[in-house]
Amino acid sequence: MSSHQQHWEATYRDHLPESVTWYQERPALSLSLIEATGIGSDAAVVDVGGGCSRLVDHLLDEGYTNLTILDLSPTAIRYARQRLGGSASKVTWIEADVLEYRFDTTFDLWHDRAVFHFLTDPVDRERYVAHLSDAVPIGGQIIIATFGLDGPERCSGLPVQRYGPETLSQTLGDDFEVLGFQQETHHTPTGATQQFLYGHFQRRSSRAT
Ligand SMILES: C[S@@+](CC[C@H](N)C(=O)[O-])C[C@H]1O[C@@H](n2cnc3c(N)ncnc32)[C@H](O)[C@@H]1O
Repeated sequence: MSSHQQHWEATYRDHLPESVTWYQERPALSLSLIEATGIGSDAAVVDVGGGCSRLVDHLLDEGYTNLTILDLSPTAIRYARQRLGGSASKVTWIEADVLEYRFDTTFDLWHDRAVFHFLTDPVDRERYVAHLSDAVPIGGQIIIATFGLDGPERCSGLPVQRYGPETLSQTLGDDFEVLGFQQETHHTPTGATQQFLYGHFQRRSSRAT
């Protein structure tokens, strides 16, 4: 087990899913952005670093039938599967590091809330974008939520990279057309506030230079 995976395993072993700072009972902004994508309920959707997020519960309730959750923490995935009970079998669960894993399928929508901002090494960011590009074909959409420029400098004991619209878009590169940005003030279970930036992108063909 990598030190990275050990960190997240320890986090989920030591904290109840409802007590982690990133907990949301209803991921309202993600849900409204996903609705705004216009994808159908049979579209292939992946939540990268989904952890114990309840996004999957809401998407199942809304009738989405092709959902994949990837997370490097087996404990987080176990929590989510237990919560869903019988419905868990309708979801594809992948225990893996997004920087290592190569999907054997492609997605109409890639969703990531609070994972990309942990990539503080440019090499890891390049790797993430390469895997994203492999998994999302031209026309596919991407929602990435990171801490905003006024967001926390650390999360779960780890340093993070904060983003504004320009830096997030520059980091993803020219193959990702900006469809919009929204900010959210997230209220943690202990009452603190955290600024998030949600970027909505569409994969486009590489532009000639
Ligand atoms: C801050 S939590 C956010 C969880 C979820 N997206 C949400 O909004 O509730 C970050 C999650 O990303 C997972 N994670 C961190 N680095 C990862 C990586 N390189 N590959 C896959 N999952 C990762 C962690 O295990 C954790 O579940």
